[in-house]
Amino acid sequence: MARKTVLDLQKMKAGSQKIAMITAYDYTTARLVDAAGVDMVLVGDSVGMVVQGLPDTLGVTLDDMAYHGRCVARGLQQAHLTVDLPFMSYQLSPEQALASAGRLVKEGGAQSVKLEGGERSAPAIRKIVEAGIPVVGHVGLTPQSVHALGGFKVQGRGEAAARQLLRDAEAVQEAGAFCIVLEMVPAELAAEITERLYIPTIGIGAGPDCDGQVLVVHDLLGLDSSFKPRFVKRYAELEQPIVEAVRAYVGEVRSGAFPTPAHAFHRRKGAAKVARLY
Ligand code: KIV
Repeated sequence: MARKTVLDLQKMKAGSQKIAMITAYDYTTARLVDAAGVDMVLVGDSVGMVVQGLPDTLGVTLDDMAYHGRCVARGLQQAHLTVDLPFMSYQLSPEQALASAGRLVKEGGAQSVKLEGGERSAPAIRKIVEAGIPVVGHVGLTPQSVHALGGFKVQGRGEAAARQLLRDAEAVQEAGAFCIVLEMVPAELAAEITERLYIPTIGIGAGPDCDGQVLVVHDLLGLDSSFKPRFVKRYAELEQPIVEAVRAYVGEVRSGAFPTPAHAFHRRKGAAKVARLY
């Protein structure tokens, strides 16, 4: 089965078909979400928070992204793979951005790369696209700027902020991105941007009118019951069943109930005891 391309995804907007995107960071999860029919898989730099246990995405490296990218790539049959450019791997210059994007394609299996920022990131997007690497933009809440933004907050509230966000989205499209993520943006503004752009918008906390949606797989599956932002819908509550399954295993190891003879390998009939061979 062929993997979805940039053209397939753009055709989905043209045909008013919604795009389903989800994050993954390893082979097994990639295999499962691909089998579920997701259109795009994102190896997000959210790997820093949900896999590495960091407080934000700032510590994630390009090596980390290339490693998780190739793990995920091995699990995909049909979904398109986008890999995030992490903090400080593209901000220095368009040349640095291109070199980093090239590594994610060559070493991380990326079909496209995602980077954060609007007007300020346009030169980097243009440089990467000119080299033949598709780019996904990301505006609104851009977690790599968490310190400048003063936290993980809704963006584009108020007229001036909304106008800037629209300019940012248009700059990303103008620079050649094939798709754009809108994160934590008022639903009405996201709808307006979606209507103005010819490239697909993928929302997270941006309401129902975007051309697609993205969620972090750990949030969708309910792997951390203490994390429940308003924009997340949990399609399963897996934290407790996982803890209970492992607790049952620990109990059976301690009691000797596991393994049973059925879980063990046995000597061939008539084989001598090892002690007798010496
Ligand atoms: O890193 C990430 O997972 C993301 C999505 C939340 C869009 O950028």
